Amino acid sequence: MRTQVGIIGAGPAGLLLSHLLHLRGIESVVFETRSREQIESTIRAGVLEQGTMDLLVESGVGARMQAEGALHHGFELAFEGKHRRIDLTGLTGHSITVYAQHEVIKDLVAARVAAGGELRFNVSDTSLHDLDTATPSIRYRHNGEPCELQCDFVIGCDGSQGVSRAAIPQALRQDYERVYPFGWFGILCEGKPSSDELIYARHERGFALVSTRSANVQRMYFQCDPKDSVDNWSDDRIWAELHARVDSDDGRKVVDGKIFQKNIVGMRSFVSTTMQYGRLFLAGDAAHIVPPTGAKGMNLAVADVRVLTDALRAYYDEDRNDLLASYSETALKRIWRAEHFSYWMTRMMHRLDDASPFEQRLQVAELEYVTTSRVAATAMAENYVGVAPV
Ligand code: PHB
Repeated sequence: MRTQVGIIGAGPAGLLLSHLLHLRGIESVVFETRSREQIESTIRAGVLEQGTMDLLVESGVGARMQAEGALHHGFELAFEGKHRRIDLTGLTGHSITVYAQHEVIKDLVAARVAAGGELRFNVSDTSLHDLDTATPSIRYRHNGEPCELQCDFVIGCDGSQGVSRAAIPQALRQDYERVYPFGWFGILCEGKPSSDELIYARHERGFALVSTRSANVQRMYFQCDPKDSVDNWSDDRIWAELHARVDSDDGRKVVDGKIFQKNIVGMRSFVSTTMQYGRLFLAGDAAHIVPPTGAKGMNLAVADVRVLTDALRAYYDEDRNDLLASYSETALKRIWRAEHFSYWMTRMMHRLDDASPFEQRLQVAELEYVTTSRVAATAMAENYVGVAPV
């Protein structure tokens, strides 16, 4: 069996790449260890930058996002009992859409299936071979049977725990990491939105975020101990914490509802360089992780895929290797920009147990600055919508 591009992982990066390559007449096969039902229901983040929205629409998979996603022109920063707005569209001319990642996955899977694309779910024991030759291959098991696929290129979109990054020799790799000593407690609840726009709150008790999923389902988070258990948190305790952190002095309140999902995620920043080795290229979480504060995770995966699609198209259509050769360098510029932005926002918004009272006042001073200076607000806004120069 042979294909042009073998793609490991059916997350946003792998599925979008397969879709974009198909539109350019390049054939691919996508491998995924989980089932279609699992990837279509795993709850992840949900903010799409302007460039991500545009790419989905241009490539014909944005209709449901446009119909069901919530287009937001700003967000709020809550601190010291007040709520202040960052006018994304007024400051940058761009906006964001709140639309859950697993909905993007459903749209991409549907497009691939409709086009007769090859998606292989429930594979196991995936291994990558001969990556430093012109004939790399992927070996895996499907229904217990050993299988092999030969291809021109292997693209690793299999997340931070996948096999792809580990296939780059350690001696050629440099990893950069920052683990945060806190996590996010996430809930999904029934009820009306608490606000027309997302609210990022800094409070002495810790960070909180009010987001949304639809007119009747809301998504909220609050900073917690990453080792804590959801069983320690009754609904009443969760609402008390969210009210304490988000409600404003002038009467703005989080709207309570029936909680039907609770989870805790750890937070870290991570970049692995290089993102390529021979005929292997990494995209998305396989190469880099950001804390969710800046809402960059899926957008960075999409940005990698955009660069990779252009490079593969140049290879197949024009016999050019230069864009593939510079893939890692090109992608890393945007990645480091987003790494800095999400680290900066994380440090400004969270309760830092190692911070002195002096440093805690600096957080407030910085929030005052980004919410009163047009220049500082614009810097934040252009990073958030994803148009900051790199
Ligand atoms: C979400 O809605 O899940 C969400 C929104 C904004 C973030 C992170 C997560 O920064």
